[in-house]
This record gives sequence, C-alpha cells and structure tokens, in this order.
Amino acid sequence: MADDMGNVARSLLHRPRRLRKTAQLRELTQETSLAAGQCILPLFITAGNNVVRPIGSMRGHAQHSVDRLDEELDQLAATGVNAVMLFGIPESKDETGCGAWNAEGPVPRAIAAIKKYAPGITVTADVCLCEYTSHGHCGTVHSSGDVDNDVTLTMLARSAVAYADAGADLIAPSAMMDGQVRAIREALDLAGHHSVPIMAYSAKYASAFYGPFREAAGSTPSFGDRRAYQMNPANAREALREVALDIEEGADIVMVKPAGMYLDIIRAVRDRVNCPVAAYQVSGEYAMIQAAAERGWLDEKRAALESLIAIRRAGADMIITYFAKNVAAWSAETQ
Ligand code: PBG
Repeated sequence: MADDMGNVARSLLHRPRRLRKTAQLRELTQETSLAAGQCILPLFITAGNNVVRPIGSMRGHAQHSVDRLDEELDQLAATGVNAVMLFGIPESKDETGCGAWNAEGPVPRAIAAIKKYAPGITVTADVCLCEYTSHGHCGTVHSSGDVDNDVTLTMLARSAVAYADAGADLIAPSAMMDGQVRAIREALDLAGHHSVPIMAYSAKYASAFYGPFREAAGSTPSFGDRRAYQMNPANAREALREVALDIEEGADIVMVKPAGMYLDIIRAVRDRVNCPVAAYQVSGEYAMIQAAAERGWLDEKRAALESLIAIRRAGADMIITYFAKNVAAWSAETQ
C-alpha cells in the first residue's frame, strides 16, 4: 500500500525501534543500571592540618587532611555514595615505605575519623607502598633495581593489619606482588580480623592512564617503571590467571584496572568467577573526559555516564570512580 507521497509502508516483522519510542519504554527495556550505591569514591588523605589542596589534573578532587574530611563526607551523604577508598600522602617518605603501617599515619587516622563521623560509609583502604617509598616503587627495591616480592609481602601485610585495626571495612592490595592476598589474609586472621574482606587488585595493568593519580598521590617512580610487576596491556589470559590465583588465596572481590580500555577483561572475568567483580575507572580516564569537556568537545555528564554504564554492562558489580558523587544527580538530569 502506498500513501499519496508514494511511500510504501512495509510490513516489517522486526522493528527494534518500536521499543525505543518513549522514555518509559526505553526505561522498561534497559538491561543495565548504574547507581551511586555501586560506586566507590577515591579520597586522598594528606598529613597535616587544615589542608584542602586541589589536584590540578583532576578537577573537583583535592588532597584532604583528616580534620577537613567532614565536608567531603557531608557531600557523600547528599549524593548517595556509600563507599570510599583511601590513599595516603605521608609527611615524609623513606626507602622501605614504613609510613604505610604507621598507626598515626593519615590513612589509619582517616579511617577512624570516618567511622566515627559517618559510620555508614564503607571504608576501603588501598594497600600499597608506592605513596610511602622515596623511590615511588610499590615495594622494597634491591640494589639491582628489582622490587623484592617476598620482603614486600611482609610490609603489605603489616599495612593491611594497621588499617583493619583502625576500622577499615575492606582491604584492597594494589602492589601486584605475587602472594599478596594470601599474606594479607593470613596476617588479618592472625590479628583477629577474620571478617574483614579483601578486594584484590587482581588484574592491574602497567597503564599510562595512572598519570594524574601519581600527581595526586606523589607516587611517580623516580627511576624505571612498574612493568616488572604490573601486567602487560597486551595480555588477557594472564588476567584470568591472576584472578584465579587471588581467589585461591582468599580474595573476596576481584578487580580489573583500568576499566574503560579493559572491558573485554571485565567481561571475561565476570563470565568465569562467582565472586563480585570491581573495576577501577582510573585517574586518566576521568581526566580525559574532563579535559575534552573543558574544551567543549564532549558533554561531560553524558560522556561520564556512558563510560560508567559501559563498565557495568561489561560485568562490573561495582566501580571505583572519580565521578562517584555526580552519578545520582547526572542520571536524574539526563533521563
Ligand atoms: C597504587 C595505586 C595506583 C592507582 C591505584 N592504586 C597507582 C599506580 O599503580 O601507579 C592508580 C589509580 C588511578 O590512576 O586513579 N599502587
């Protein structure tokens, strides 16, 4: 049948557009969701008092001293974000990174302060030495320049116990040392922290996208790079091996990092494991979207939400993201 313009209304059995017609139909047929409650906000805790030091490459983020965290926590309550991940910037650094397990250091003090001020917030403590070592590597460095895996395990375990002692709800080892999950699980159990779960940075790649974080945390290696312990971006099967080992060692949650460039890894992990999967949308992923938005080249809200829903679609249950505080408001606005 042709109308008077000569257009033929075809009888098409399949018209996927039928279900995209209205906002309501689109909502009913949406396969993946994103909520603020699935996001974890990274926070940088610095030594000292009365410090809020903005991070140049990460607009909207700052290093906070413990006494100035309350403003940040009030915002969390208002934005529906229930979880944070803490990184420490100590007063001084040394060869071994012993500041990492100092009970009076910024992270243990922040954990205690957050649990007191906002007990409903899940506090995750990143466990690594790179913020605490003078050379910026994630463990003890031999004269050969190599990071000593097994010596580092002891230090990571000590740090994890210090954070659990301070009240951390989740321990997240990110140093990519072999056996770190087992060493930390044993140390936590010995210290009576059987019920503190481990979120393992299992597949953590040697990525160029950590750049802004290293400015934020002052953890750029003074020599070499991290390719002898973080993973080669070209490898996928190896990620599955790392994940399997971490689960065997007692990881409760496994993580893939970075997220956006590694959606295939997130999917492959999700299809193989039964524990929760986390993904870390790293500082460079955040900075790229922001930098393009600043130039008017991207719509920041839509680009950020699209990047996050893609990570969820790939199979991540939770996302560590610097956009966490914006998720609820931006989702409501862009409906
Ligand atoms: C510590 C650590 C890093 C990040 C999280 N934990 C830095 C690194 O490995 O160099 C990066 C996070 C980000 O870029 O947002 N090892």
